[in-house]
Amino acid sequence: MYEQIEAARAVIAARITTTPQVGLILGSGLGALADEVESAVTIPYADIPGFHEPKVVGHRGELAIGTLSGRTVAVLRGRFHFYEGYSMQDVTFPVRVLRALGCDTLIVTNAAGGLRADWQIGDIMRIADQIFLPGMTGHHPLIGPNDERLGPRFPAMVGAFENELVPIAREVAMEQQLTLREGVYCMLSGPHFESAAELRMLRQWGADAVGMSTAPEVIVAVHGGMRVIGFSLITNLALPDGSPANHAEVLEAGEAAKPRFASLLRGILARI
Ligand code: HPA
Repeated sequence: MYEQIEAARAVIAARITTTPQVGLILGSGLGALADEVESAVTIPYADIPGFHEPKVVGHRGELAIGTLSGRTVAVLRGRFHFYEGYSMQDVTFPVRVLRALGCDTLIVTNAAGGLRADWQIGDIMRIADQIFLPGMTGHHPLIGPNDERLGPRFPAMVGAFENELVPIAREVAMEQQLTLREGVYCMLSGPHFESAAELRMLRQWGADAVGMSTAPEVIVAVHGGMRVIGFSLITNLALPDGSPANHAEVLEAGEAAKPRFASLLRGILARI
């Protein structure tokens, strides 16, 4: 694994002259921010050993390294999902590579179903904590021998989402007159949208949003000692008595929220 990370790092490092500080993962429909990266070096995933080609509509596979709001960033446009059949190691490999490139901070984004009847489609939620259900049931990127060069055997997750970026995010949201929700994100493997009984269960567990990504990437970032902040775009309300979710509405809500989401991320980057 270490050698694979190093191989990917070397391919990328050979094409850039900067050291990225902040890694960004842009989820379903949110990839356009990658186009705003200045002086970008764009590397298709196909050119990076260990990376795969995303197959989901709304995900394009490329890494853009350049400047955004004055910070040197490495933007992963498109991610690999567990439900596509990738292993948890595959899903999290790009995070390892960002870390190896020098990123000490990771901003993760995703599209998620809102579990709260008092929230609205298009709301942005800061991930205040997460429930990594696949990980808790044995689908975990850190299962297997632990390489101490990458991180500790038993990383702690309490406090993983509490850092200096939180007050910055709140401040930026306030200045932009954006209602920033905060809540617990629960990752399920998918690919089915949840049944009513599953949604009731998630709510009872204290989850506020549900999705099919992000939690493994966060775990690996924390394992690697990165500072993490995450945001879910509520693309649909996932309520037991509501209408069923569909992928088209997820992409549509992403499209509509793009400018707000982008300016929030830009505002945060400017103050990191
Ligand atoms: N459930 C799971 N994943 C999702 C949803 C949902 O309702 N919306 C966007 N991603």
